[in-house]
Amino acid sequence: MFDQETPLPPCSFVIFGATGNLATLKLLPALYRLEEAGRLPEGLSLIAQGRRAFGEQGDEAGWRAHVVELLEQKLKPEPAVLARFIARFDYLRGELAEGDTYTRLKEVLARPKMGVCSNVVFYLAIKPGDFAAVIKHLDACGLNKPRGLHRIVVEKPFGSDIESARVLNQLLHRYFEEEQVFRIDHYMGKETVQNLLVFRFANTLIENLWNRNYIDHVQITVAEEVGIGNRADYYDKAGAMRDMLQNHLMQLMTLVAMEPPPALEADALRDEKVKVLRSIRPIPRRSVHAHAFRAQYKAGRIGGGMVPGYQDEAGVEADSVTETFVAAKFYIDNWRWRGVPFYLRTGKRLKQNLSMIAIRFRHPPQQLFRETPLEQLEPNWIVLSIQPEESMHMELHAKQPGLGMDTRVLKLNASYRNPDDQPLDAYEALLLDVIEGDRTLFIRFDEVEWAWRVVDPILKHWAQERDFIHAYPAGSWGPIEANRLFDGEDTEWRNGV
Ligand code: BG6
Repeated sequence: MFDQETPLPPCSFVIFGATGNLATLKLLPALYRLEEAGRLPEGLSLIAQGRRAFGEQGDEAGWRAHVVELLEQKLKPEPAVLARFIARFDYLRGELAEGDTYTRLKEVLARPKMGVCSNVVFYLAIKPGDFAAVIKHLDACGLNKPRGLHRIVVEKPFGSDIESARVLNQLLHRYFEEEQVFRIDHYMGKETVQNLLVFRFANTLIENLWNRNYIDHVQITVAEEVGIGNRADYYDKAGAMRDMLQNHLMQLMTLVAMEPPPALEADALRDEKVKVLRSIRPIPRRSVHAHAFRAQYKAGRIGGGMVPGYQDEAGVEADSVTETFVAAKFYIDNWRWRGVPFYLRTGKRLKQNLSMIAIRFRHPPQQLFRETPLEQLEPNWIVLSIQPEESMHMELHAKQPGLGMDTRVLKLNASYRNPDDQPLDAYEALLLDVIEGDRTLFIRFDEVEWAWRVVDPILKHWAQERDFIHAYPAGSWGPIEANRLFDGEDTEWRNGV
């Protein structure tokens, strides 16, 4: 069934942190959807590690009931598929820091399996602070042996700065080969994000314009209505820069800016992404304020109701200056992009959920249409909307009907999705890649390292300025002061597609 080029599928998929946020919201629903699509290998068993005891009904039965309940809340599971799915599970109650958890895991993994398979996937759906303990325990129990076989999936943020990222990487490499490591950034699994590659490289029309001669600037926005929920423990130490910008937004930026890879293969694609990251102009400490802006939400109104400010969220320090909004400006000093600013911004508790890449083109050099002077002529835009809508918009000029030579903006809107196309969650695509051993959409360490190199000076500077942070009311688009990053006087944030 599998030739030598196609790695064998795993026999076991271990989720560390199975009762946590990520597993509950993303991993379990995505695994179920793969089951429904018939994409989980037949003999695959799922092992859920968690600290939670399920009481009287016992852990195994309690865990299964828990999975059924959460899937019934989120999806409409087919009874037969659901039964097949939960039958794959073992629940392993235990602490991540205790050796006994891993001894018992070893016993579970040793049970005979069905089907043709070879390896184990270890998914670390846990706080970054627990990564090291798990990796060391896996080694102590010999669960990483034979070397080179199993797969380990690590969630972002990978480290909290360049130094800690290197330390974590060294630790991983002590026990695993690079081919076994899957560093996940789920934005790479989003269909619209992958579509960016098709849009750029399959359309002659687009690629010719995609450079400094025609593009004025690029804006990348990931706005969220949600606050930090019950994640204060993690978020208050991370902040928007580490949680979103250093990974998701910078990945989007590399896809917008990279050169076409020679092939759509893991290393070819990642080589091109790294070239972009390496070409980003370093931000000297003295220029941090001209390149980066941070702020924090205060109480405000979202969707008709009042929500508390960040400092009043459960688990957040009352005087915390952790940023929940960040905006940054980067320049990519290469032949294609020199001089074109890339503006990135992301925030929690913003006015609406909106993720998009907006490309603003330059004004035409010549003023032919006297009744619409150049300064009034709206520039052309291409907007790629990632969520909630998955679509592409183009804004062009056309003659205003009637006498005279006036122009008006024509909006061309195209949705990628046909009404009956099933939406795919990013995790479905990426979990399937892990199972199939395809690393194309996973992050190589040099990408992580170069991205940290870019944002590290900003974080270091902020770490010293701990007595003030700008504020914005929940439900707004963030503070107006973020506009200070713009080079052009006629530049403003685009808050819709
Ligand atoms: C995660 C961040 O990586 O991405 C969260 O840790 C954020 O803070 C989430 O809410 C956003 O993902 P999506 O797919 O909902 O845009």
